[in-house]
Amino acid sequence: MNIFLLLSLLLLPIFFLLTRRGKPLKRVPPGSLGIPILGQSLGLLRAMRTNTAEKWMAERAKRYGPISKMSLFGKPTVFIYGQAANKFVFTSDGSKLSNQQTDSVRMILGDRCLLELSGEDHKRVRNALSSFLKPDSLKNYVGKIEDEVMRHLEMHWQGKQKVTVLPLMKTLTFNIICSLLFGLERGARRDAFVEYFQQMIEGMWSIPINMPFTRFNRSLKASAKVQKMLRDLICEKRSELEKGAPPHQDLITCLLSIRGNDNNELVSEDEIIHNVMLIMVAGHDTSSVLITFIIRLLANDKTILEAVLKEQEEIRNSKLSRELLTWEDLGKMKYTWRVAMETLRTTPPIFGGFRKTVEDIEYEGYLIPKGWQIFWVTSMTHMDGDIFPEPSKFDPDRFGNAAAIPPYCFVPFGGGPRICPGYEFAKIETLVTIHPLITHFTWKLCCKDDSFRRDPMPVPTQGLPVQLVSKKLL
Ligand code: HEM
Ligand SMILES: *[C@@H]1O[C@H](CO)[C@@H](O)[C@H](O)[C@H]1NC(C)=O
Repeated sequence: MNIFLLLSLLLLPIFFLLTRRGKPLKRVPPGSLGIPILGQSLGLLRAMRTNTAEKWMAERAKRYGPISKMSLFGKPTVFIYGQAANKFVFTSDGSKLSNQQTDSVRMILGDRCLLELSGEDHKRVRNALSSFLKPDSLKNYVGKIEDEVMRHLEMHWQGKQKVTVLPLMKTLTFNIICSLLFGLERGARRDAFVEYFQQMIEGMWSIPINMPFTRFNRSLKASAKVQKMLRDLICEKRSELEKGAPPHQDLITCLLSIRGNDNNELVSEDEIIHNVMLIMVAGHDTSSVLITFIIRLLANDKTILEAVLKEQEEIRNSKLSRELLTWEDLGKMKYTWRVAMETLRTTPPIFGGFRKTVEDIEYEGYLIPKGWQIFWVTSMTHMDGDIFPEPSKFDPDRFGNAAAIPPYCFVPFGGGPRICPGYEFAKIETLVTIHPLITHFTWKLCCKDDSFRRDPMPVPTQGLPVQLVSKKLL
């Protein structure tokens, strides 16, 4: 095609935008939308796979400044970064920005999950989930989590010379979610659940073509099966509740027992099912990555390993052997959590995310048209030397005084009304796992190639195989 024709076709919509309603509007941000449909998606995905996405973003920022447009996953997108940009993304209410999920995610997880809800509905369901995920409630489950961790270590670590960390951590965090959130204990039912669930996840980032034998079709089928199993589970829990079972034994029971003014269930059955599926996805992939990267760091950095070990042994020595960890013990793991925070700063499991403009909005003197995507990223503030001096250095003591870190700069969990509600859960899980690991085992990396790629979560080469030595029996 003639290049001028192509150009004018691309420019036409912008021309209309500028002249609409007869009054001159502001310019859209600089940058190019690239090749139609593909845009810059391939470039970004390639950068993620070679672990150069941070550089890709930084180069873009250098070229176009703090706000630029591109096209990602088929949609015009504005990339913004920095403290003010993060604040804008995280605190704008639903009348300006709405959440933006791909069609596949919505069709698989369902349209009543938190990611799809806004306004009052979002608040109601989020409050219900938070009543279970808040520290006051979670502190009753430390023992149950530790029980899952110890069983996992006995089965998969004890007596082994070599283990591959990432897949094992995925299994562990999935099992914790199953027992704690759904009251699904070990057994045939949980095994069937895991299998359908894996199939469901595989299609989440696929192209939504619903024909026989596509990944997406298989994933939808698996999602239907998971939903059916959850519906049965809800039925059982409801009748247990009616027979007088305590309401706080797991997330499903807890959600069922929340009543509105008219004494009806406040959260609908679909909402319970869709959010349970969301939490299964959001809650196990992320924390398994965090724990894996802490294990990798502890193999690479002797000084930090010794400091963490000292803190954990002091706690262990203050207890009888086999005595369970308590909420107070977790409170003493201050240094260990700083190491986790620094890991989240340098290797955030979630790279960034999207919002969608609900109307034309003006930002920093530019127009962002209705329906465009806004792309926020963690790395641009996490690796900014003005906020975190010597950003490439791994230094847990940055978090010695967390209050000194300016707001909206450390954002591995997002911010504002949609900030990750699983923060405390992830913290407990991580600390409870690191404690027995570091007091019972030492490990060395097996892979010469100690790098990782993004898929889109960070994945260490070969899933991080390590060579193990048991220091003492569990
Ligand atoms: C290290 C672990 C984790 C990280 C880094 C993480 C990170 C995030 C991020 C970045 C968001 C999106 C915020 C936004 O778009 O503004 C989010 C949302 C969410 N996370 Fe997490 N998360 C983690 C663990 C968990 C766990 C353990 C759970 C559940 C038990 C969970 C449940 C959720 C849910 C339900 C949302 C959606 C919230 C909403 O839209 O209101 N996450 N998380
Ligand atoms: C899978 O594809 C077939 C054929 O197009 C369709 O009939 C079926 O409904 C699809 N399955 C799901 C779960 O959508």
